[in-house]
Amino acid sequence: MAKIINEPAHTFNEYLLIPNYSDENNIPSKVSLVTPLTKFKKGQMPKISMNIPMVSAIMQSVSGDRLAIALAKEGGVTFIFGAQPIESEAMMVKNVKSYKAGFVPSDSNVKVTATLEEVIALKEKTNHSTVAVTSDGTNKGKLLGIITSRDYRPNKTNLNVKVKDIMTPLNKLIVGKDGISLNKANDLIWEHKINQLPIIGKKGELKYFVFRKDYDEHKKYPNELLDEKKRYVVGAGINTRDYEQRVPALVKAGVDVLCIDSSEGFTEWQKKTIHWVKKNYPNIPIGAGNVVSGEGFRFLADAGADFVKVGIGGGSICITRETKGIGRGQATAIIEVCKARDKYYKEKGVYVPICSDGGIVLDHHITLALAMGADFVMLGRYFARFDESPSNKVNINGTFYKEYWGEGSARARNWQRYDLGGEQTLKFEEGVDSYVPYAGALHDNVIMSLEKVKSTMCNCGALTIKELQKNATLTLVSSTSIVEGGAHDVIQKDKTSFK
Ligand code: IMP
Repeated sequence: MAKIINEPAHTFNEYLLIPNYSDENNIPSKVSLVTPLTKFKKGQMPKISMNIPMVSAIMQSVSGDRLAIALAKEGGVTFIFGAQPIESEAMMVKNVKSYKAGFVPSDSNVKVTATLEEVIALKEKTNHSTVAVTSDGTNKGKLLGIITSRDYRPNKTNLNVKVKDIMTPLNKLIVGKDGISLNKANDLIWEHKINQLPIIGKKGELKYFVFRKDYDEHKKYPNELLDEKKRYVVGAGINTRDYEQRVPALVKAGVDVLCIDSSEGFTEWQKKTIHWVKKNYPNIPIGAGNVVSGEGFRFLADAGADFVKVGIGGGSICITRETKGIGRGQATAIIEVCKARDKYYKEKGVYVPICSDGGIVLDHHITLALAMGADFVMLGRYFARFDESPSNKVNINGTFYKEYWGEGSARARNWQRYDLGGEQTLKFEEGVDSYVPYAGALHDNVIMSLEKVKSTMCNCGALTIKELQKNATLTLVSSTSIVEGGAHDVIQKDKTSFK
């Protein structure tokens, strides 16, 4: 007879944290959110730790290179989506690894033959105040000059005038040589009272700009996640089909950590993939999943996974539970898998971090997942809403939204994620195509969400994620107390609510 669990599986919304005693030390500014990303032996340090417990979902509408840079600045890790050609995924990884904080590749460039009218149109489109003039009109061409608003008078200068007649030419510019440190570049900016310093290569080709306005930028990001060469840390998604070609390209591009992207991870395919990576690239950590049971966890941990992702059917765009009838309430899945993780640690002395993947809707769900034992959370819908996600921003009846589609939707064409051998096609959909409300810059939102996490941790008397996991008291709530938890029995003046 089948094994039947008669206890219901619960979701985050069915739990609350009961505050513990907090003393004067329990203030948000003292909370550390540092957390392991990869496994470690008792008494040792993980190869990679994060400064915040957030990673981004391996999805086309979420995790491109722009989001990766923005999230690494905050202290988390992006897993670049794997459902794209190997070369373009590797290129995204390379873009993150070659990104130099403070050194900005020029996005607005023209040739000397462009007109002022074209320059103004370009500035309106890109919102940039500095336009580079290069030999071929690209940001890699030979630098010939720059145009800023100091070079022409709006409404006075003839719009048909050519760039070459109004630009500030190279011989009147202060420039830096490629390889200059950010400190030195900033010294030149202050010494010469300029707003931007072009950085050029050996043959005079444009490399970057350093801007005066960015001078204090690094102070905005005290949690930046950097590798030993001071480059941003970045992850990448892989599948269980083409890893022998994909992984070498990603490693060559500088990837720090891999993760198998699959809707169901308790499989022979995952084991084979992990073994291959461990044999050929023993220094590159690899996460696996997704599982929702202790048995699934142990299988992947024994196979060598460096972290294990938990969650089936809880994602906001996911219809796996409806389509296939598999899954488990996310809270119960986390609790059960974390029990198995702790048992594994006791037995083998190896701590395998757990990632809670999918279903985070309210910020406090992050705190609940951590209190239940997760070491970090993976978020799709959350990050899709920001400027930095790769999807389109659209205006529908005066309100801005971003597009967000599941990897199991027909639009994503990611059959590898649902591969069970056999034909190379997606036979039915397990995800939907949707919109999410546009929410602005990643930085502002992440700061706000984590302030809430820290505040709750203080209420629970915890200054670290470990303390929260050890000391938190969680309670299941009845359906009527869920109603009591929102504003009730009042007529709200404004429906705009803070989540
Ligand atoms: P969210 O944060 O609730 O939006 O969930 C994101 C997670 O949903 C991802 O990290 C994946 O694990 C999962 N996911 C992504 N696309 C699909 C899909 O099409 N069907 C089912 N699950 C998906």
